Amino acid sequence: MDEKKVMLSGIQPSGDLHLGNYLGAIKNWADRAEEFDCYYFMADMHTITVRQNPADLRRRTLEQLAQYIACGLDPEKNTLFIQSHVPAHAELGWVLNCYTMFGELSRMTQFKDKSAKNADNINGGLFTYPCLMAADILLYQPDFVPVGNDQKQHVELTRDVAERFNHIYGDVFKIPQPYIPKTGARIMGLTSPESKMSKSTPEGCVFLMEKPEDIQRKFKRAITDSDTENCVRYDPEHKPGVANLMNIYAAVTGKSYEEIEAEFSGCGYGRFKPAVGEAVIETLRPIREEATRILGDKAYLESVYKSGAEKASYVAGKTLRKVYKKVGFVAR
Ligand code: TRP
Repeated sequence: MDEKKVMLSGIQPSGDLHLGNYLGAIKNWADRAEEFDCYYFMADMHTITVRQNPADLRRRTLEQLAQYIACGLDPEKNTLFIQSHVPAHAELGWVLNCYTMFGELSRMTQFKDKSAKNADNINGGLFTYPCLMAADILLYQPDFVPVGNDQKQHVELTRDVAERFNHIYGDVFKIPQPYIPKTGARIMGLTSPESKMSKSTPEGCVFLMEKPEDIQRKFKRAITDSDTENCVRYDPEHKPGVANLMNIYAAVTGKSYEEIEAEFSGCGYGRFKPAVGEAVIETLRPIREEATRILGDKAYLESVYKSGAEKASYVAGKTLRKVYKKVGFVAR
């Protein structure tokens, strides 16, 4: 009997992965597989709530899968799959639509934000998206759902809907908990150290697949601070840009702030910034090479997402059958 706790998370393949995603999250996922039974899926069904270019969506979905594997997420130890390959998500999603209230969905801040941003395409999917997300989660009976702050409200709604369903039909769903990881650096934008590194500010964002010379250029142009001290010292309040670069350097080299201060004492930013760039380039190089190699090996990539979908379908199918029976559908 497998006693491991179950963990599940979905990632929308709507943008390229960057250093903030890697140091803040993905890097730590590899070790998790020892302790947890982990499911990670590319949430392609979620992305079409906003209009997508079909060829780009297909490419990014596979690229992201290749990049996750290259970052150390072992497909033998984790279940990696593509959401649309497991029809149970859509099937349970429909059922949960019927157990989620209009008022609850209206209160979701992400819906309010996204409908303000896409005023010409406020579609039904955007509104009921949390029901599909609840289905994504509840199908696998996970103990924990690692998510960023922006998704906590959706996990809370998932719990409410699961409790409502269980209240009517008995114990069908395990009630999952949001999981905010203890480890993981919070990486800020290189040109805007007051906000998180984000693909929407590309000049301050280092992408995993970026060319070394582009990475180095971005580090050389990174904001340090406005004082004239020109000294590498950890002071996040007064020197947020320097602190961010130190954080990045610490995360990729394993050095402490004291060690970094000593290493660059008397050097100024002119030597520090390219040194951070160099260390990041060397960290990303094997990831980029491995991701490129995997992407070129279509047969391997296909075998990963096929066996992932098979494992996921098996687990998801069990929950779906239980739900269908409870609500009164005739067994297939
Ligand atoms: N909604 C999440 C996001 O936008 C992605 C997601 C979809 C997800 N289904 C999930 C995350 C289930 C955790 C669990 O980031």
